[in-house]
Amino acid sequence: MTRVDIPRVQVLSPATYAARAAKAIADALRASVLERGSCALALAGGNTPRPVYASLAGYTALPWTATQVYFGDERAVAPNDPESNYTMATTTLLRHVPVRPSHVHRMPAERPDREAAAVAYQIALAEPLDVLLLGMGRDGHIASLFPGSPALDERERSVVPVQAPVAPVSRLTVTPRVVEAARRVIVLVTGEAKAGAVRTALATDAPPAVCPARLVADATWLLDEAAASELRVHATGARVP
Ligand code: 6PG
Repeated sequence: MTRVDIPRVQVLSPATYAARAAKAIADALRASVLERGSCALALAGGNTPRPVYASLAGYTALPWTATQVYFGDERAVAPNDPESNYTMATTTLLRHVPVRPSHVHRMPAERPDREAAAVAYQIALAEPLDVLLLGMGRDGHIASLFPGSPALDERERSVVPVQAPVAPVSRLTVTPRVVEAARRVIVLVTGEAKAGAVRTALATDAPPAVCPARLVADATWLLDEAAASELRVHATGARVP
């Protein structure tokens, strides 16, 4: 077991995960608006956020009209495709809260010219983001920044086209510059399959090329017990296996 001092890692029970994660996101959004009068929120894709967004949809009294919604990455599929992160976020969250449609900035990854799409999104993207939500793959990828990807070395551009090692292959993603500049980062990880990547991200000094989630090692990590099962965390009072 690895003993580590890990700040801001919360280990949550499966029964309370979605509600507790939704509250953490709501608190971050509210704090951003209190601090700056607005919130630039970037949503994570994949499946982990689904129940969290469904719970967050109950926070209708949040300052959604002061919130601009972005995406950390998107697949090169139609906006109504089941594989679309935009579709997932819209069906679970965005159509249920009073966010202004003009404030929802879909990432147009389906455009044939993805270089031009990346430039257009970079122009639209608020930097720095106030709240960046991320999931993580079992290989340690975040957004669509995969191990060994040239995008991990991108220091000029904010958004780039990438080819993922998993389907859907063609994507757009924010780059490390955007991830590192975000004022608040919340990483949502559940399931035992990711426990190894969680340990690598939080308890080793592996380079981001090996484990891109190392870019957000000091973020707020919301784990369920299975995802935390390879950590021996004592600093936060989390359950110590
Ligand atoms: C995507 C996501 C990606 C996701 C991880 C975890 O477009 O796939 O942005 O980074 O967060 O792959 O996905 P799951 O939550 O489905 O395990």
